[in-house]
Amino acid sequence: MNILVTGGAGYIGSHTCVALLEAGHSVIVLDNLSNSNYEVINKIQHLSGKEITFYEMDVTDPLAVSRVFQRHELDGVIHFAGLKAVGESVENPLIYYKNNLVGTLVLAEACLKYHVGRFVFSSSATVYGDNQVPFVESMELLPTTNPYGETKAMSERMLLDISKANSDFAVTLLRYFNPVGAHESGIIGEAPDGMPNNLMPYITKVAKGKLKLLRIFGKDYPTVDGTGVRDYIHVLDLADGHVAAIEGLFKGVNIYNLGTGKGTSVLELLKAFEQANNHVIPYEIVERRPGDIALCYANASKAEQELGWKAKRDLISMCRDAWRFEKNLKD
Ligand code: NAD
Ligand code: UD1
Repeated sequence: MNILVTGGAGYIGSHTCVALLEAGHSVIVLDNLSNSNYEVINKIQHLSGKEITFYEMDVTDPLAVSRVFQRHELDGVIHFAGLKAVGESVENPLIYYKNNLVGTLVLAEACLKYHVGRFVFSSSATVYGDNQVPFVESMELLPTTNPYGETKAMSERMLLDISKANSDFAVTLLRYFNPVGAHESGIIGEAPDGMPNNLMPYITKVAKGKLKLLRIFGKDYPTVDGTGVRDYIHVLDLADGHVAAIEGLFKGVNIYNLGTGKGTSVLELLKAFEQANNHVIPYEIVERRPGDIALCYANASKAEQELGWKAKRDLISMCRDAWRFEKNLKD
């Protein structure tokens, strides 16, 4: 298939491009490089041994997007392009609503106009809010605590309505849990600009000596050891989930959790990292982070039953691969 991957130079997008190319698909990447760089495109080509077509453009620009749809006979779209920093979305909600909602609308409109019937959307477990774990796709969604989360919930609803009204526009909503790790080559991975927000990139920066110690946000949650529990999933498993989704049965709207189904606490992740990489990570316990929930993990059985996809990689590989990438990064 010819797949348009928006945000394909980013963290999850780049790993997915490699997986799509390895599965025999052709890839066209559209990215404005606002949170990535062109070097990643070369790396995707190097890792897969295949060429891709790249457009440096903004997904919110309808004329530019139209030109891409005119130029290529597309079979499907995987839409990663978007902004994802929760704190920044609270400070500047307008940019988040514009970028994430308009981008999704422009692409959906182009799909209808040019008869592209497969649309895979990057959603997030954040849409479940503080529901009872494990989160199941059929749950009623609860309010999220920030504009970023709202853009995901709103995009889901928009795509659902558009698909309902257009029977040949099928949508798959993928709700990711906590993507971590990197390609085992150590060549592509997650390289956040400035201070990392998420746990794994923070740990790797401490291991590298770039940050002094990890601050653990709260030890009084109702969890196994008082620290927050999440469902960490290797980015390569996530990438395989996208290949399964775009190749899967496309009719109406399908929603899948992409997680492992297993919860891990902050202290457990820290221990796994120390064990995998033989590195001691100093830490201190501080106040809870506003907006955090205690427990977040998936019921991942629907994706297994319907897509034949299941996460395969364990916590040790996630930690090892994340660290290998960080070590290779030039600062
Ligand atoms: P990322 O920032 O690494 O990748 C996003 C890519 O989109 C970047 O290359 C960026 O340059 C590009 N982009 C942003 N706005 C654009 C625009 N207007 N036009 C064109 N390109 C644009 O992020 P990621 O971690 O790879 O996340 C990909 C998607 O998955 C995002 O939609 C994100 O919200 C979602 N998601 C991520 C996580 C996570 O923890 N990483 C969790 C759940 C959902
Ligand atoms: C965060 C976002 C969420 C987003 C998800 C994936 C917030 C409030 N939530 O969630 O919307 O979907 O990332 O991108 O930002 N932790 C520490 N110290 C740190 C960093 C994290 O103790 O320096 C803890 C957190 O309290 C949490 C766990 O580690 O319990 C995981 O945190 P993180 O990686 O930020 O992911 P989420 O909290 O799931």
